[in-house]
Amino acid sequence: MREDLKNAYKTERLVLAPVTIDDALDMFEYSSVPENAYYVFETNHSLDETKNIINKIFIENGLGKYGIFLDNKLIGTIYFLNMDDHNKTAELSYVLNKKFEGKGYATEAAEKLRDIFFEDLSGERLYARHTLDNIKSMNLMARIGMKIEGNLRKAYYFHGRQVDLAIWSITRDDLEVERRQ
Ligand SMILES: CC(C)(COP(=O)(O)OP(=O)(O)OC[C@H]1O[C@@H](n2cnc3c(N)ncnc32)[C@H](O)[C@@H]1OP(=O)(O)O)[C@@H](O)C(=O)NCCC(=O)NCCS
Repeated sequence: MREDLKNAYKTERLVLAPVTIDDALDMFEYSSVPENAYYVFETNHSLDETKNIINKIFIENGLGKYGIFLDNKLIGTIYFLNMDDHNKTAELSYVLNKKFEGKGYATEAAEKLRDIFFEDLSGERLYARHTLDNIKSMNLMARIGMKIEGNLRKAYYFHGRQVDLAIWSITRDDLEVERRQ
């Protein structure tokens, strides 16, 4: 089943493909910007740091993790986390270079991973979590058909404070209902 995750995928405007070391400069363009890194990782201070992250996270542990490419430029990443084959669940996470926000690219990529999850991986429940101030991420979750389940209280140590996380999900049943409408 997981062999499927090594594929590259096309959407209307994007290619989703494994990140390689050749993408380091494109990733550094946004990973070095504090506002871009704020919700998901520590700001990168050198290209070498970004290269190490690509090696550790996207190459050594790269299954289910994709670069979002627009005209061959890496403009973000999107990935499955916590893939649980037994329970058929996974978490979806993403980050987009802020220069490319507001055009629906992240939604387009997320819809593709959602469809791969349900159609190719026989998944049952895809979920995502956001800190309560992360409205753009919340909006994306709603756009791809996720529903809010509630808040995980004080679930996350975030920039020096213990904060709540909102948890959203879409199930195979939800998707089938949506597609029938
Ligand atoms: C979360 C994040 C990916 C959302 O980016 P985004 O640009 O808002 O999302 P999209 O690329 O899907 O674009 C959606 C926006 O484009 C608009 N849009 C334009 N064309 C569109 C289209 N064809 N389809 C969908 N939306 C479109 C939407 O109306 C929306 O704008 P709005 O927020 O003003 O309503 C981005 O803010 C980010 O990387 N944040 C930092 C990392 C992060 O928080 N990750 C998630 C952790 S939980």
